[in-house]
Amino acid sequence: MTPAQLTDRVLDAYGDTPDPRLREILTALISHLHAFATETGLTSQEWLAGLEFLTATGQKCDGERQEFILLSDVLGLSSLVDMVNAADGSTESTVLGPFYLPGAPQRAMGEQIGRPEDGEPVLVRGRVTDSGGQPLADATLDIWQASANGLYDTQDSGQPPFNLRGVFVTGPDGRYEFRTARPVSYPVPTDGPVGDLLRGSGRHSWRAAHIHAIVSAPDRRPVTTHIFDAENPYLDSDTVFGVKDSLIKPFRLAGPGDPPDVRRVVEMDFTLTSQVE
Ligand code: BEZ
Ligand code: FE
Repeated sequence: MTPAQLTDRVLDAYGDTPDPRLREILTALISHLHAFATETGLTSQEWLAGLEFLTATGQKCDGERQEFILLSDVLGLSSLVDMVNAADGSTESTVLGPFYLPGAPQRAMGEQIGRPEDGEPVLVRGRVTDSGGQPLADATLDIWQASANGLYDTQDSGQPPFNLRGVFVTGPDGRYEFRTARPVSYPVPTDGPVGDLLRGSGRHSWRAAHIHAIVSAPDRRPVTTHIFDAENPYLDSDTVFGVKDSLIKPFRLAGPGDPPDVRRVVEMDFTLTSQVE
């Protein structure tokens, strides 16, 4: 039997999978896996090393750590799946990441979500609109970010719970604003198999500095996205391939017309398409 005949035999064995979508996915998975082994001439030792790597990845997972998602992130798979499912006309989305925490407190418009020690004070503001530019009332912005030490509250016992997190709800003008700290670059966790992979391939582990947002509104498709700092040195080499040009914004110095308590101002508008668009 040739390798091609074996591949056909395996595909045939799964050909009667009753669920059509599962059949489609299994067929593509088997075809690509077999092509991968054939094209690379994968040795038995390499096959075993690969399985040991995946085993270690699973063993690193627990209630808080999801090494498989991190693996998907650094291989660009998370970003690719996100791209394949993107809605035309809406703000571009990007990876959720492992540090989202549901249940952040709702805060008043303009409120500060961090502490002075979290970094340079920044005002973030803009509008949430539909794809025709009409303001969306009752839109929710669920915001989270890391502190000046590069850690999220959930990684750092020195931060109070829900530090640098908050939910903001727009009024009839669709406007929002909040005060926070200028985000810094931080490394993804490298004490597991994904760290070994990054080191083994000579890649760094840094994420370009960002603020996370999940923006949603009644009858609209929600968007999970970031605001990236235009001056960050990792925009072109973000470890998880999460940067999109449309999400890069200047963190400009505050001027005479800006509130006196902030050092920088960022403007970011969000567009949400309807569920059916
Ligand atoms: C984050 O931005 O929080 C993140 C995303 C992917 C992997 C690690 C962290
Ligand atoms: Fe992050």
